[in-house]
Amino acid sequence: MLSRQIAPRLREFETPFYLYDIALLRQTLESVVSESKKYDYKVHYAIKANYDDHLLAVIREYGLGIDCASGNELRKAVEAGFDPRGIVYAGVGKRDKELRYAIEQGIMAINCESIEELELVDLLAAEAGRVTDVALRINPDIDPKTNHCIDTGQADSKFGISYEEVLAHAEWIKSLSHISIVGIHLHIGSQIRELHVFENMCHKVNAIVANLEAQGFSFRFVDVGGGLGINYDVPENEPIPNFASLFSIVHTHLQVGGREVHFEFGRSIVGECGELITSVLFNKTTATGRKLVIVDASMTELIRPALYGSYHNIENVTSEAETREKYTVVGTACESTDVFDENVTLRTTRRGDLLSIKSAGAYGMSMASRYNLHDLPGAVYSDEL
Ligand SMILES: Cc1ncc(COP(=O)(O)O)c(C=O)c1O
Repeated sequence: MLSRQIAPRLREFETPFYLYDIALLRQTLESVVSESKKYDYKVHYAIKANYDDHLLAVIREYGLGIDCASGNELRKAVEAGFDPRGIVYAGVGKRDKELRYAIEQGIMAINCESIEELELVDLLAAEAGRVTDVALRINPDIDPKTNHCIDTGQADSKFGISYEEVLAHAEWIKSLSHISIVGIHLHIGSQIRELHVFENMCHKVNAIVANLEAQGFSFRFVDVGGGLGINYDVPENEPIPNFASLFSIVHTHLQVGGREVHFEFGRSIVGECGELITSVLFNKTTATGRKLVIVDASMTELIRPALYGSYHNIENVTSEAETREKYTVVGTACESTDVFDENVTLRTTRRGDLLSIKSAGAYGMSMASRYNLHDLPGAVYSDEL
C-alpha cells in the first residue's frame, strides 16, 4: 500500500486528499489489456468511477474506450482525447442537449434505455441529418448477488428496456430510419464478487441475442457492461482484480458468433489505486463507552459508506503505537450517517495521526460534494512525488 511506504511524505500535503498509486494503475491496465487481447475483447473505462484528468491521461495511453453516463462525462472524455468512436453512452434519463452532442460527436453507440428514448434519438438524428448508431440496453433480470444499492439489472430496476418491451416494439424499432441498431448492451450491477453470476448473464445474453436476431435485428457487438468487484476487505491480497477469470467465463459461456464483445470496467480499473488520506482531528468517548475517532474527511469526500453502507478498510499509517484499540471512525459532516466504519481496530490513535481509507479510487472523488461548504479534496499522484 502506497501510503504506508511513503508515510513521512504524506505530511507535506493538506488533508483530506486522494493519494493515487499510478504504478498500480498501470499494472492494472496492463493486466486488463493483455488478458482482453487473448480473446480480442474491447475494454471501455467507465469514467463515472473517476474522471480525474491525470488518471484519464494514463488510461488513454492503454487504448481503452470510454463508457459514459452523462453529456458532461462524454465531453470530458472527448476533451481528454479519447476517440468518440470508442465511446458508449448509457443512462436512463438523457437530456435532449446531451443526445444532440452525442449524435454530433458520432460516438460508437448511444445505449438507449427506453422506447421513448429510441423515438427521441431517431428524431434528433433526423434533425442533425444523420443516422446514429444505437445499442439496446436490455434489462436482463439477473440477481448479481451484490449490495442491493448497486444492482442494476433486476426486472424492477430503472435501468434498461425489458426484453418483452423490445419484442413488442420490434417492427417499429426496425422502422426508425435515423438510428441503426448495432448492438446489445447490459450491465447487471457493480462490485460483483461471485463470478458465476456472469455465467448466468452470458446464458441470458445468448437467448436475447438469438431471439432478437430471429426478429430481424443484426448486432455487430454485445456490450456486457462492467461490475467486476475488488477486494475491499483486504486490498493488499488482491491489488489487481481477476480480469482473467471473468474473461475466461465469458469466453466459455457467451456465444459470440463473430460479434465484438465489449466490457465497461470502472471500479476494477481505478478502485485499488486510490486511498483517501485523512487526519485525526479529535478522539472522544461517548456516554455509552464508544471510542470515536473524528477525522477531517467525511461523506463529502467519500460517500460510499454513508450512501450504501459500503466497507472500506482503514489503517493508521503514521502511528507507531504497539497497542491497538477498537474505534468508530466518523467524519466532520452534520449527518449521523457520516461514519466511515464502526468497530475498526487501529493502532492507538492520537490527534494528528494520518489514516488511510483504502480502495477509494472508484466512486470516491467522482461522488464528492460540497455539502457543509466543504472544499473538494485534493489529489496527490505517485508519479509526481
Ligand atoms: C452502464 C454501466 N457500465 C459500467 C459501469 C461500471 O461498473 P463497475 O464500476 O462496477 O465496473 C456502470 C456502473 O454503474 C454502469 O452503470
